[in-house]
Amino acid sequence: MNPKQLAGEKAVDYVKSGMKVGLGTGSTAYFTIQEIGRRVKHEGLDIEAIATSIESERLAKEWGVKMVDFSEIDHLDVTIDGADEADANLNLIKGGGGALLREKIVAFATKFYVIVADERKYVPTLGAFGLPIEIIPFGWEETFREVTALGCTPKRREKNEEIFITDNHNFIFDCDFGLIENPHDVLQKLQGIPGVVESGLFLDKTDVLIIGNNDGTLKII
Ligand code: 5RP
Repeated sequence: MNPKQLAGEKAVDYVKSGMKVGLGTGSTAYFTIQEIGRRVKHEGLDIEAIATSIESERLAKEWGVKMVDFSEIDHLDVTIDGADEADANLNLIKGGGGALLREKIVAFATKFYVIVADERKYVPTLGAFGLPIEIIPFGWEETFREVTALGCTPKRREKNEEIFITDNHNFIFDCDFGLIENPHDVLQKLQGIPGVVESGLFLDKTDVLIIGNNDGTLKII
């Protein structure tokens, strides 16, 4: 089985009826949503969910998953999401799909945070994957300069030769910092820059990392 599918479906073991569930974004979380949807439709799984992207919400709705928002609930019991990189401390780089802002809001609202990934994502040190940063369009050139001054090379993300716009109508910079030896320091500095809405560094948040291996086995950390 595809390692993303293996990890994505295994994580659904954490989801029980009555729970409020955060739904991630990306090609691994896709399998999680498909499996949750299947259990809702065919096995009577009864949950309320909040999605981290318009795309994930659309998929969940197709299966008949009950979608709510933060005016209706004040926490999530479990969230299952993907990652672009994860280290042994379960710190993450996320945002490859451009959903990092909603993903971080959902991550902070959740009591139990599960990350699903294939084995390529598990790395000794974060940073080979360029760090995604969501920034406000107003004054982006100045924000770009400030981010560059931190010692990285930012590139404004494009898709199909057009500027990539997030679900929140912002830009993404993908920033090459090289290997990030001190992610807490980088996160703190980014949070000090006006115009930076959020970064893809998700630190000290993950409870469980489920890795699907190419040989069909799972590793749970
Ligand atoms: C989207 C994300 C995704 O979770 C991350 O990019 C992993 O995606 P995939 O499972 O497709 O490799 O952070 O913003």
